[in-house]
Amino acid sequence: MEDCTFVIFGATGNLSRIKLVPALYHLDAAGRLTDGMKVVGFGRRDWNDDAWRAQVRSWLAERQTDPEVLDRFLARFHFCQGDLDDEQAYGRLHDMLSGGDGFSPNIVFYMAVSPAAFGKVSRQLGEVSLARESGGWRRLVIEKPFGYDLESAESLNHSLNRDFDESQIFRIDHYLGKGTVQNVLVFRFANLMLEPLWNRNYIDHVQITHSESLGVEGRAGYYDGAGALRDMIQSHLLQVLTLVAMEPPANMDAESLRDEKVKVLRSIRPIPQSAVNAHAIRAQYTAGTIGGEKVPGYLDEPGVPGNSVTETYAALKLFIDNWRWRNVPFFLRTGKRMAKGNSMVAIRFKHPPQQLFRETRIERLEPNWILMNLQPNECIRMEMQVKQNGLEMRTETTRLDASYCGINPAQLDAYEALLLDVIEGDHSLFLRYDEVSWAWKVVDPILKVWSVEREYITGYSAGSWGPPEADRLFLRQDQYWRNTLDDSGEGRR
Ligand SMILES: NC(=O)c1ccc[n+]([C@@H]2O[C@H](COP(=O)([O-])OP(=O)(O)OC[C@H]3O[C@@H](n4cnc5c(N)ncnc54)[C@H](OP(=O)(O)O)[C@@H]3O)[C@@H](O)[C@H]2O)c1
Repeated sequence: MEDCTFVIFGATGNLSRIKLVPALYHLDAAGRLTDGMKVVGFGRRDWNDDAWRAQVRSWLAERQTDPEVLDRFLARFHFCQGDLDDEQAYGRLHDMLSGGDGFSPNIVFYMAVSPAAFGKVSRQLGEVSLARESGGWRRLVIEKPFGYDLESAESLNHSLNRDFDESQIFRIDHYLGKGTVQNVLVFRFANLMLEPLWNRNYIDHVQITHSESLGVEGRAGYYDGAGALRDMIQSHLLQVLTLVAMEPPANMDAESLRDEKVKVLRSIRPIPQSAVNAHAIRAQYTAGTIGGEKVPGYLDEPGVPGNSVTETYAALKLFIDNWRWRNVPFFLRTGKRMAKGNSMVAIRFKHPPQQLFRETRIERLEPNWILMNLQPNECIRMEMQVKQNGLEMRTETTRLDASYCGINPAQLDAYEALLLDVIEGDHSLFLRYDEVSWAWKVVDPILKVWSVEREYITGYSAGSWGPPEADRLFLRQDQYWRNTLDDSGEGRR
């Protein structure tokens, strides 16, 4: 691996504290950083290298660290003092990096700052020639959200492209860094027995759910302007959908993979504004109880305007108009303050074509399901029907767990894998602009309708599984939500 210099804009912020610095530390402890790798924090506080190192040390004090690794790690840290709005500061950064202090000319610029600053920072880097790949590579990592809607994403991309090529830009979606999400691809493409079944002939529908038991957790300022559809569905859940639905790529290189994902997004049937209410549900949590504790409603959270109609829950029905998936509904659903925090892909198969057991004691034959749980526990499970013990002809559901189904104690944080990919220049798990843009095209009509319908939003109690209205997305009465691995959905039928 080549040496590199890792510059963090917004070094003193939350993302830097909870994700970037710990991930870099773990990479160092695992021996994955070269000796010449240095980290430059860019921030407006009146700090020097020592103050910045003391800050990093205090952040890591909450974690288990090895004193020897920690000393080596801290020695990598340098501070460049400057305000993002001050053009001179970028000149100082340039001088620091090209001075004689042994900074590698391979540079990662990580934007851990407000999305409003992405364009400005990239422009200034261009102005001082830090974007130009002379003597080493330059990479720009962009945090989500990438734009606010299709138009703003276009304009942000346009402004980044003034100074950085697409090949230099890494749009991060930390969901894709999770091993379990990548497992969707392995499960599909390393197991021949699934492929013949993976289509409209055998699959009844697909559900992709990300539920959180947490509320807005002090991030109301950001969240109230975004909402569940932007925050989770446009980005993470549509990405999971592409992995479930894509065709096998020509090979596993980044462009082949991303080409196939884009094809899925392009095939999603557009939702006309007149059909938004038939395809999308939004709701907001009201006060309730989670894990025995009373929690306030969204409107009573600190920082949320009393008249907000921002959705904390969104559910969507999408169709992919291609040969494999035509008329198979994909239900995408996310919510805050739901009964449990969990992420799962649930694939329901059709009933066998002949009801052979009609004349027996079997009252209702359950369909097969494949459940891929993404978090908190990693699990792939198949649900099959078997005969119950005894003289009567009755069936029961048995579960075949295809991988470890407990909480994985040594889970790698997604950021560790993704930061390493940036340093190694692997784009596979980062979003190409056309993916982002097609994903915005999918949700844009819904955002437009919701932005004008501002009088009323349905409520759901905190601690529930969302509003009952979400059931109206289903095509038939025998369809129902699967919430977690251990919840068969029985209670809601
Ligand atoms: N936090 C998360 O869990 C999370 C998750 C996903 C994505 N993101 C994305 O990551 C980015 C950063 O989020 P965050 O939560 O870390 O935000 P944050 O805690 O508000 O941090 C913002 C950082 O920007 C710095 N900053 C602001 N204005 C500046 C200026 N004029 N000059 C120099 N520095 C300035 C702040 O410095 P001061 O400390 O001096 O104010 C701080 O270091 C955002 O794009 C966000 O959407 C965050």
